[in-house]
Amino acid sequence: MKLNIALLAGDGIGPEVIDQAVKVCDAVAKKFSHEINWIPALTGAAAIDAVGEPYPDETHEICVNADAVLFGAIGHPKYDNDPTAKIRPEQGLLKMRKKLGLFANIRPTFTFPSLIDKSPLKRERIEGTDLVFLRELTGGIYFGKKGRRDNGETAFDNCVYTKAEITRLAKKGFELAMTRSKKLCCVDKANVLETSRLWRETVQGMEKDYPEVEVSYEFVDAVAMRLVQWPNSYDVLITENLFGDILTDEASVISGSMGLMPSASVGENNSLYEPIHGSYPQAAGKDIANPLATVLSAAMMFEDAFGLKEEAEAIREVVNKSLAQGIVTVDLAENDKAYKTSEVGAWLVENL
Ligand code: IPM
Ligand code: MN
Repeated sequence: MKLNIALLAGDGIGPEVIDQAVKVCDAVAKKFSHEINWIPALTGAAAIDAVGEPYPDETHEICVNADAVLFGAIGHPKYDNDPTAKIRPEQGLLKMRKKLGLFANIRPTFTFPSLIDKSPLKRERIEGTDLVFLRELTGGIYFGKKGRRDNGETAFDNCVYTKAEITRLAKKGFELAMTRSKKLCCVDKANVLETSRLWRETVQGMEKDYPEVEVSYEFVDAVAMRLVQWPNSYDVLITENLFGDILTDEASVISGSMGLMPSASVGENNSLYEPIHGSYPQAAGKDIANPLATVLSAAMMFEDAFGLKEEAEAIREVVNKSLAQGIVTVDLAENDKAYKTSEVGAWLVENL
């Protein structure tokens, strides 16, 4: 198969972890006789520095025309403490999601047997955890009208959802639940928010189309609590943009390191694969970041975007092997035996 992949390394540790994923993808392509054409493009602070814009039109053209997008991370500390900055790297990510129509963000959380004791949660709480969040990604408070009034002393961010937006996300949730344990949890705040009531009403209306799926409705605050108490009681969870942003960060620590969890953002015509961690500027350029979340995102890309399941499994297998043998970066290393980012990448390639 010939694969055209847009490569958006972005900021911070983005380029380093992307380099490892590229090496691994090239090795998999070689092993299974595929040909990958990587098309690099600018995004984030790197793009602002180069062309004054975090998601340039040229990058959008490349992404729209590619078979998939592999993405590193976005964000730079020089913008974080400046609330007056007009152009910010994160705007690039939001614009990209909107323009590519990436409305469903798929964020799995699972445990690795060899790392159970790395989790801040007790073994008996987390063993067997294997859940997936489907976070709505192009609506809600992120994209509602926002602004200031009263001489800047009042600020507002509107939260808006249409039934169509909820339906297309929920449909993906039901479909995913059908391929798994047929359990779906709709996370909302329907006791307070009107948008949440529309979510609940819409999902309730869809239940009859999926009679085998057992649907539960839970408030976001209760889910935040149960997620760390009994994460293995969940399977597929669907939720709106901001709730999903917060809960998926919470869920990501269950596995033991934020550097492990992959994600996909999908729409009707395009899909993007990225680690769920951020740009981690403190580690940038030091060759210490964990590349596995990006490598596992590439596995998701092989399976979901290209339908290449065996290739995806080959990547997951070698990642599991590296973890079991302790070929890990400093976030997971025991007694000073930390490998460099590039060394982990090289080991994966070697062992594929
Ligand atoms: C994420 C990030 C983004 C978000 C930021 C960087 C805009 O936190 O992908 O979860 O809030 O969606
Ligand atoms: Mn986030």
